[in-house]
Amino acid sequence: MAKVKTTFYCQNCGSQYAKWQGQCTSCKEWNTIVEEVVQKPEKNDWKSQSNSTKRISKPLRINEIDTTQETRYNLYDEEFNRVLGGGLVKGSLTLLGGEPGIGKSTLLLQIALKLNYKTLYVSGEESQKQIKMRAERINPATSNCYILTETKTQNIFKQIESLKPEIVVIDSIQTLHSEYVESSAGSISQIKECTTELIKFAKETATPVLLIGHITKDGHIAGPKILEHMVDTVLQFEGDRNHVFRILRAHKNRFGSTNELGIYEMQGSGLREVSNPSEILISEKDGELSGHAIAATLEGIRPLMIEVQALVSTAVYGTPQRSATGFNAKRLNMLLAVLEKRAGFRLGAKDVFLNITGGITVDDPAIDLAVVAAILSSNEDIALPSDYCFAGEVGLSGEIRPVQRIEQRILEAEKLGFSTIFVSKYNKFNHTTTGVKVQLLSKIEDLVLFIN
Ligand code: TYD
Ligand code: MG
Repeated sequence: MAKVKTTFYCQNCGSQYAKWQGQCTSCKEWNTIVEEVVQKPEKNDWKSQSNSTKRISKPLRINEIDTTQETRYNLYDEEFNRVLGGGLVKGSLTLLGGEPGIGKSTLLLQIALKLNYKTLYVSGEESQKQIKMRAERINPATSNCYILTETKTQNIFKQIESLKPEIVVIDSIQTLHSEYVESSAGSISQIKECTTELIKFAKETATPVLLIGHITKDGHIAGPKILEHMVDTVLQFEGDRNHVFRILRAHKNRFGSTNELGIYEMQGSGLREVSNPSEILISEKDGELSGHAIAATLEGIRPLMIEVQALVSTAVYGTPQRSATGFNAKRLNMLLAVLEKRAGFRLGAKDVFLNITGGITVDDPAIDLAVVAAILSSNEDIALPSDYCFAGEVGLSGEIRPVQRIEQRILEAEKLGFSTIFVSKYNKFNHTTTGVKVQLLSKIEDLVLFIN
């Protein structure tokens, strides 16, 4: 018998080694290198009766390439369509990653159930009955969705050849295995092999494939890191499992922008699209409370009004506590230092807690001004009027810096009925709105005047 050839792969980043070692030299993770059997890669064609119909692609002049045909499928889910850049591109491979239990299977099943196109939902995780039960929770109406529980890619392709679906969903890539590779399902070589087969299938038949991939914190299951290079689009489904909101982001998108964001709400009957997130991210309250400020942020091209809550209290311990949820803690420390040095607030002996409502994380620097306003409001125990909102970045010398696309933020503030929006004096814009007052600030001290 021929000697079985093996190689060592890092299960985190997919690097290959000739011998075992404790730490991966490329991603620096410990204990992630595992021995796997290697096979000759000659037979990884997705079709059972291959080679006879093999097409050889020829170079075409760019203006000869035909793009008149509809190249995208509408998924009848506005949030998902927008994140993909206007629908699912034919022949593309899309990876949906996320922590276990966040709702990946629910999202894709829900989309599959809504479609008029013939959809094949392949699950290696749940039985057909379990999927039916889930489907009944989501959308009991009949649809054109077929369910297959299978993990071997060759069998899946056999079913695909007879069923000829227009869209294929695979839940999940970690459960698939191909007979051409001997290592167990979920290992790097299996994931590589199965993905290669799926890519070939998708490109040859122009069928889009949606793949679910698990991400584990310790990275023991082959993280979809290596997959990310192979697929066309990488989507991330994130959110706090204890919160109802889920966010869909594109990390990589060959057919659209990666700035777009989709927001869903997890309900008893599946995920609901949230088309106007600003309304739900601002909590309802009776009367005005101190420590609340509303930021006019942008996620992608979509304006988003977000409520910032701060609590400033006297420190009990020698070292004051600072904690931030949904906001960068280092940035919070920086803003506190600016307030202390430039505006004379003695926050050094105060605990400061900051929370962005809705369990979402914000990167837009325009949120700074609202963070500062919330902190000052809590510190002075003076409530800000609930129809004020803020959009500005705070610099190290306490200056309020301009932010991009201010007009869009002002328009959103007007649309949602805010009376005043605070922006940087240095922001250039054509103020044509009448419903909202634009208050210009040049430094933090200007803001203090409005809080006292
Ligand atoms: P699931 O899609 O199984 O997560 P994943 O595939 O990412 O592991 O969703 C799991 C959670 O979603 C589970 O905790 C229950 C919740 N859920 C609802 O709240 N409502 C529903 O209608 C469904 C189907 C699930
Ligand atoms: Mg699942």
